Parts: sequence; structure tokens; C-alpha cells
Amino acid sequence: MSRHSSLAVLTSGGDAPGMNACVRAVVRAGIFHGCEVLGIQNGYDGLIQGQAIPLSLRSVANIIQRGGTFLGSSRSKEFRTPAGRKKAWEFLQSQNVTGLIVLGGDGTLRGAQIFGKEFSMPIIGIPVTIDNDLFGTDVSIGFDTAVNTAVQCIDKIRDTADSHGRVFVIEVMGRNTGHLALEVALGVGAEFVIIPEMPFKKEKLISKIQRGIRRGKSGNIIIVAERNRSGWAMDLSKQLQKFIPRDIRTLVLGHLQRGGSPTSTDRNMGSRFGAKAVKLILQKKSDTLVGIHKGKVCAIPFSKVLSRRRPAEKELLKLVDVLSN
Ligand code: F6P
Repeated sequence: MSRHSSLAVLTSGGDAPGMNACVRAVVRAGIFHGCEVLGIQNGYDGLIQGQAIPLSLRSVANIIQRGGTFLGSSRSKEFRTPAGRKKAWEFLQSQNVTGLIVLGGDGTLRGAQIFGKEFSMPIIGIPVTIDNDLFGTDVSIGFDTAVNTAVQCIDKIRDTADSHGRVFVIEVMGRNTGHLALEVALGVGAEFVIIPEMPFKKEKLISKIQRGIRRGKSGNIIIVAERNRSGWAMDLSKQLQKFIPRDIRTLVLGHLQRGGSPTSTDRNMGSRFGAKAVKLILQKKSDTLVGIHKGKVCAIPFSKVLSRRRPAEKELLKLVDVLSN
């Protein structure tokens, strides 16, 4: 790429802590390597509508510690259409953009893959999702912070659950995957965890709670992954109440899990991934996701990442059960 190559960067899909740290790295590494960096606002919608700002070294000062994304994000319906993607391409052409870096999860990367193929636009993806469900990287930016946020909230719930001898059914995010639920359940010492990847036996949960009550356990924390529909925990609580002689309360943690200042793990991963993405674009790589494997930053083709789902560590279900006896 020439000295005045122009890179564009955008954040798309559900925001996650660490996005800002990562954009900061893209901007600063890009400028270090002699590129101009254009920040696309509001994800793919902004790309279609031509919403963009030139990013300078100073424009990304003081954002490494901030949650959300200062560029804004969207779940763009229009980008799913050929006409929408054509408009996006025309905008990038008008700005002389020669490489695009996108931050987001599964939907964002699928969009990037199609767009890259249609218009031969060099694109590098960076995995950012609290769901941690992307195949090809051991972890995605945002996951660590979301786990810690949920754990801090649930520790507080544990205090009141124990005081009143109550059962709390707590729903965490994760869409149709259980990575967040498993990690959180282990971290809070939950009595039970339910994930979409494993069939759930209500009788098993009821007998676990009943056994605990007989043995003098005070509170019980049940973690459920939201599945495709937030609010599932409410239905479960109602069903359980018929069999459990204790007050049952429900908590849906919801979008609380997506906000807040990123942990150092997410900031550092954002910084490393952002810098790597710039290097890959400069090496003329495309259709590639930056990831981490066994502690090393790596690059994986989109085709590999998007052909599979990251499997849940099902052994953790058993471990949560054994350790909460
Ligand atoms: O993919 C991230 C995520 O937070 C999921 O865990 C959740 O199901 C979804 O986004 C919520 O999406 P929205 O913010 O559009 O309601």
C-alpha cells in the first residue's frame, strides 16, 4: 500500500467493552504505518449512508477505558441487500478507501465476507462479542468484561439469596450459545447452569435444589442462558415454584452485561488485535479474522471461522454441579 493509503474502520452488531480500545489501536497503528484512517459511524448503516469522520491520533485519546463504541453501531438490515452493499461500496470508492477493518460478531463477519467477495474489497475482521461464540479464536473481545460484570452483580444477589433462603433464577445473555452462562456459573459458584447446547432435565434441577434444602443450604443460584428469547428465566421460575418450598425470584441481567469499562484483558486484546489487523491489511491480506490461540495473536480465513460454531465446554456443566454440592 502507498504512503497515503486510506483505511476505514467500523463497529457493527452488539457493542461490547473493548471496542474503543481496539479502534484506538487501529487508528494509531494505521497512522504509524503512514495510512489515513476513516471512522465509519453507526456500523454498516453508516457505511451505506456515508457517515464517516477522519480519525486523528488525538481523536482516539482517552477512550481506551470506555465501554460502548464511540463510532456507534447498528444491526443493519439494508446491508443484507445487494443494493445496500452497492451503496456502501460506492461510498468507500468515493473516499478512496483501500482496506476495511470491521469489529463485531458472527453477523458482522458474514456481511463482511459477502461484501469482500462482491467488490474485491480487502477486509479484515476483529472478533468482538460478549457471546464468545466465534470459531477460530479462543476468545473474543468483550467476553471477559461481560463475565466480570455478571459475576459482580450475582455476588450481590448471593448475599440477599442467602439471607432469605431464596432461589434465584438468573438469565444471562449469549443468544443461542452458553459460553457466557458457563463461565459466569463457574465464577459465582452457581448450583446449576442451563445452556442451549445441552438438553435440560427439569427433574434434575428440582432434585438438586431439594437435596440442598435438606442439607441446610441457604440460597441457590441457577444460571440460565437466554437462548433465542430473553425472558425464558421467568417461565422457568414459575414452573419451579410448584415443586420448591422456597421463594423463587428471577433476574434478567440483560444489556447491563454489555456496558462498562473494559477489563485489562479486553483492552489489551483490543490493542493487539487492532494493530495486527492493520498489519494484515498492509500485507494485502483479506477475508481474514484476527484471533488469539494459545496466547498468540493469529489470522484465520473467514471461510474457516464462519463454517462452524465454537463448541461449548460441556464438561463445565458437570464441574459447576460437582463444586456446588
Ligand atoms: O450478540 C450480543 C448480544 O448481546 C446477545 O447476547 C443478545 O442476545 C443480543 O446481542 C441482544 O441484541 P440487541 O442489543 O439487539 O437487543
